Amino acid sequence: MYFNFKPKEKSALDAQHEAQKIAFAPIIFQCVRVLKEWGILKLLYENDKSGLSHEEICQESQKSVYSISLLLESALSADIVELKNDRYFLSKVGYFLQNDPMTVSNFDFNHYVNYLGMYHLDEAMEQGKPAGLKYFGDWQTIYPALSKLPSKVKESWFAFDHFYSDGAFEAALKILKTLNHKTVLDIGGNTGKFSLLCAKTLKDSTICVADLPEQIESAQINIKKALLQKQITTFAIDILSSLPLPRGYNIVWMSQFLDCFSEEDILKILTKVYESLEYDSRVCILEPIWDRQRLETSAFCIINTSPYFTAIANGKSRMFKWDNLKNLIEKSSLEIECVHDNLGFGHSLIICKKIKENNGNK
Ligand SMILES: C[S@@+](CC[C@H](N)C(=O)[O-])C[C@H]1O[C@@H](n2cnc3c(N)ncnc32)[C@H](O)[C@@H]1O
Repeated sequence: MYFNFKPKEKSALDAQHEAQKIAFAPIIFQCVRVLKEWGILKLLYENDKSGLSHEEICQESQKSVYSISLLLESALSADIVELKNDRYFLSKVGYFLQNDPMTVSNFDFNHYVNYLGMYHLDEAMEQGKPAGLKYFGDWQTIYPALSKLPSKVKESWFAFDHFYSDGAFEAALKILKTLNHKTVLDIGGNTGKFSLLCAKTLKDSTICVADLPEQIESAQINIKKALLQKQITTFAIDILSSLPLPRGYNIVWMSQFLDCFSEEDILKILTKVYESLEYDSRVCILEPIWDRQRLETSAFCIINTSPYFTAIANGKSRMFKWDNLKNLIEKSSLEIECVHDNLGFGHSLIICKKIKENNGNK
C-alpha cells in the first residue's frame, strides 16, 4: 500500500485560516528565524516552567521592546508561543522549531539555500535552468559550486544532505553486508561519508568514490584524515561526460544521486552503469520516495524539496514518486531484485541486477 494524501474535511472558516497560513508563511518564517537567531526560542525553552514576560525577554535578549513585541505577536498567532497570565511559553510547535534536528535542518536549508532563489521558480521552470542560483555565483548547476558556496549556505546544504542520507546509511550497510560483495563504487560519493562508514563497517571491502573533481578534493582530505587511503580510492568524473565508469565493482552504490538529474540524464546514467557492470553485480539505489513513506510529514518534506532542485540546483530534477523511478530503472534494462523501505528517516534501498544485454533503451 503506497502513501497518498487524502482530502481533509474542513469548514470554510478553517480552510480560509489555512490559506492565510500559506499567504503569510514567508513572514512568519522570517519572524521565527529572527527569534531563533536572537536566542529567544532557546530562552523560552530554558524557562519552560515559569515562562517569561515581555520585559524579561527584552532584558535577556538586549533587543528593543518594539522588535520583541512584533516577533512574539507573530509567534503567538502561529501557535509557536503561548501567552498565560502575561508570560510567554514555548508551545509544542515552538519546541520542534527550536530542538527537532529534522525541523532545524529543513528550516536552515530553506532560509540559507532556498529563500532568495525561490523567487525565480517560474523563470527556472520556463528555462529549465536553476534561475535562483545566481545569488551564489555564476554556475550551470549547484554541484561544482558546493565547496565554494558562502559559508552559511554551504553549512546548511551539507547539514540537510547529510541529515537525511546519514540516517539511512547504517541500516543500508547491514543489507549490503548480506550481499557478500567486496568492492563498492560509490557514485556521487560527495565528501566520502558513506564510503568511510562502509570501509569501517565492511572491513574487507575496497571502495571507490566517484564524483565531480571539486567534491573529490574534499573526499580525498577526509579519506586521508581517516587513514583509509589503502581501502578507499577516488575517481573524478562528470557522469554526463563520455568518460566511462571504472569497471569490475560488485556493488554500484548511488545515494541521493539520481534525484540530481533530469529523467533523460537518469536513463543515460543507468545505461552507463549497466554497461560497467558484471552479471553478478548489484546496483544499489538509495532515495527518499514520497509515496513509499509511512508518515505524512515525511511525504510532505520530500515533495517540497523538489522545487529546490528546479530553482537552485539544476532546473531539471526532482524527488521521486515510485512509478517515475521504477520506469526509468526498467527502461535501462536493470532488473529490480528487491526494495527495502523505511531506512533511517524514510529512504528506500532499491537493489537491482543486470539481466540481459542492453541494446539501447527499451
Ligand atoms: C545530493 S548529493 C548526494 C551525496 C551523497 N551520495 C549522499 O547520499 O549524501 C549529490 C552528489 O552528486 C554529485 N554530482 C552531481 N552531478 C554530478 C555529475 N554530473 N557527475 C558526478 N557527480 C555529480 C554531487 O557533486 C554530489 O556530491
